[in-house]
Amino acid sequence: MDKPGYFISIEGGDGSGKSTQIQKIKAYLEECGADVLPTREPGGTPIAERIRELILDPENTAMAARAEMLLYAAARAQHLEEKILPALAAGRTVLTDRFTDSSIAYQGYGRGLGGIVAEVNRIATDGREPDLTFFLNISPKEGMTRKKQQDSHELDRMEREKAAFHERVYQGYLALAEESGGRICVIDAGQPPDAVFAEIKEELDRLFGFAPRRG
Ligand code: TYD
Repeated sequence: MDKPGYFISIEGGDGSGKSTQIQKIKAYLEECGADVLPTREPGGTPIAERIRELILDPENTAMAARAEMLLYAAARAQHLEEKILPALAAGRTVLTDRFTDSSIAYQGYGRGLGGIVAEVNRIATDGREPDLTFFLNISPKEGMTRKKQQDSHELDRMEREKAAFHERVYQGYLALAEESGGRICVIDAGQPPDAVFAEIKEELDRLFGFAPRRG
């Protein structure tokens, strides 16, 4: 494909349907001829996946908020340099499950670390932001109800946080979207998956300059 690759991130809390939408986005963009690289944070490369294990291990209850923030940022720096930037340079479209907005929402708003999170991440990413971000908007309460219906995996360290933490994260995302100058598209994730994707597709078509599809 002769079009440039884009850097796209998906954000959203538990039960927001991120994984389903990532699959749909990938399938659609590939159908349109894009070369898509799906990836995730924290993780995406061997070093960053090891940092992920450390961060999410439920046994690490003593982890300080600033250490947590720096570990997420370290994983991101590695992910960006080793995987995301080379893929974009090769004209691929990168579709990442979470990026810097997650840190601002969870560590900045959730943990209450505030503006230092954006600062640290500017260093980690050299200011690189996604071209387009989808925030799958579902209230933490509704998300949790959905999640419980879907699977019964053991909760990781972040998922074990109290409802008040997840509410602050949620409010953080809404504030971030307001301030993002249109980069973050807020999508109503309470709708059926196909309706959620229809909204996402409109934004993708705009970004990629695809003509509206017939039929
Ligand atoms: P993951 O299993 O990938 O969860 P999800 O399916 O919700 O994406 O775990 C990632 C967890 O880490 C999730 O609770 C969000 C949190 N997180 C942060 O707190 N800060 C960050 O910068 C990132 C990338 C994730």
